[in-house]
Amino acid sequence: MTASGTFGYGTEYSHMFDIQKLGAIVCKGTTLEPRDGNPQPRLADAACGLLNSIGLQNIGVDALIREKAPIWAGWRVPVIVNIAGETIDDYARLASRLDGVAGISGIEVNISCPNIKAGGAEFGSTPKSAAEVTTAVKAATSLPILVKLTPNTADIAEVAMAVAEAGADAISLINSLKGMAIDIAQRRPLLGRITGGLSGPAIKPVALHMVYEVAGAVRLPVIGCGGITAASDAIEFIMAGASAIQVGTASLANPRAPLDVLEGIEQFLKQEGINNLADLIGAARR
Ligand code: SIN
Repeated sequence: MTASGTFGYGTEYSHMFDIQKLGAIVCKGTTLEPRDGNPQPRLADAACGLLNSIGLQNIGVDALIREKAPIWAGWRVPVIVNIAGETIDDYARLASRLDGVAGISGIEVNISCPNIKAGGAEFGSTPKSAAEVTTAVKAATSLPILVKLTPNTADIAEVAMAVAEAGADAISLINSLKGMAIDIAQRRPLLGRITGGLSGPAIKPVALHMVYEVAGAVRLPVIGCGGITAASDAIEFIMAGASAIQVGTASLANPRAPLDVLEGIEQFLKQEGINNLADLIGAARR
């Protein structure tokens, strides 16, 4: 899958390579109303990674249903809509608006965005609030729901168990790690909103460990995300217990990265004489 926020609505990439070959596309975080996002600068380089403070810039759910879903309805690749809100009611209303819309195959509940004043990662930081959002979304839609977890919490496995209990169909992790950078010439933070979320290869070992922990704690499918750039990274996540993976920051440098990773996994399976990817899931746990 593509990771939310790194592949737009998929439409931007459809002329670059055959996106229909991907497992799924997860679109940019979507809110009830359109958002302009945070003040610039919103991106900063980090060693082996990237800091972003986009602030959920998006077109809003009505425009998404009107302009994007009809295009997705003609695609073979399933599209999952990532949703974010400031209140539990926002999440429930978003889920209910998306329910039954042709072209939308699932919802990724974003309780992990570190770049907004209210909501987002606030909900994902405790088991109780994460479960409350999950329950509300589950009651508002018949679509499958993935819940995307934040690493910015005391115990991610506890949050995962609460979300599973509340009715999630799958869990994706991790979103970015909160961080910052300082412009030493100006003597002030580089990002307009001071802090941002760190993603890319720098966070891969952290993400991999969290996937390992969560896959050991819940029975749901776990979707691994965090610094996956090459097929070997993806295979590590699968061996840690992920049933699927998302490619995020790598797409910003190489738009074809999600397909390169998929083809690399297929090649690895062939080399190893494995017919079914399921045989690799959790292989490093045994
Ligand atoms: C953002 O828009 O700030 C990033 C989205 C996210 O971290 O979920």
